[in-house]
Amino acid sequence: MSIKGTTKVLAVIGYPIQHSGSPKMQNSMIRQLCLDMVYIPLEVDPKGLVQAIDGICAMNVAGFNVTVPFKEAIIPYLDEQDELSLAIGAVNTVVNNNGTLKGYNTDGQGFLLSLKEELNVDVEGKRVAILGAGGSARSISYAMLCSGVASLHVLNRTKNNAKKLAKELTFDRLGSVEVHSLTDYEVLSKMDIVVNTTSVGMAPHTNDVLLESLEWVSPGQIVVDIIYNPDQTKLLTQAQMRGARIMNGKGMLAGQGALSFELFTGEKADYNFMKNNI
Ligand code: ATR
Repeated sequence: MSIKGTTKVLAVIGYPIQHSGSPKMQNSMIRQLCLDMVYIPLEVDPKGLVQAIDGICAMNVAGFNVTVPFKEAIIPYLDEQDELSLAIGAVNTVVNNNGTLKGYNTDGQGFLLSLKEELNVDVEGKRVAILGAGGSARSISYAMLCSGVASLHVLNRTKNNAKKLAKELTFDRLGSVEVHSLTDYEVLSKMDIVVNTTSVGMAPHTNDVLLESLEWVSPGQIVVDIIYNPDQTKLLTQAQMRGARIMNGKGMLAGQGALSFELFTGEKADYNFMKNNI
């Protein structure tokens, strides 16, 4: 890649940002298509978010991804948002159109893209359970409801947080959401797809488990963990041993990245190429 006076700058902002897989993945796609662009990580101290956005505009950064902890905090500083990010209440992609900042959210659609690409699964008509009720759960749940799942169940440690999420999700009358305790194994046993959206099991705490028992898993079920470090959490290893089809979070990272790339560049992204370059 040669950086010249004409090179457009893309970025990802977050805190911390050292572990982000986005710069490598996005720059690989940029190189592959010979685009005159570069994608850089910007570590932004949460106290300096306003100054960072001013700087991004002043330096005409063409677009940027937004990661933890700014996906909601960024919203007051945007000029426009697409319908999906408005509904979800979180933004992971911002495009700078000559000083007008427009926010998008590609997380949920990226997740669905990864299910299709990795397991050839469409969620329409499927019974789906989401473990956790935080920001990732919200994006994924919203995408699931938009895609016509047969039923959506949120299981969470703190039931009130799950209830709050369910209330937000049903606001748009997309479909109903049922709330259960985290240990409702009977519900889990009836699901087609179960998705862990919590960080339990992520490195370095790879021995931590969210669910004490996986006896509810049966062959043919799909169990997904949005964690990708380690490659295979205990949840995935044990579910696979019981015959489930499994998927980790690398695909979601690639999926949301591919959709962001298309918004930034107007070019078609290659999901598999991006995934292989995380
Ligand atoms: P993100 O935005 O990445 O989804 P988050 O908003 O912090 O992260 O959400 C974390 C989710 O993981 C929450 O649902 C949280 O459960 P609570 O609502 O009970 O806090 C869940 N979570 C985190 N650590 C957990 C643990 N050790 N056991 C069970 N659930 C956990």
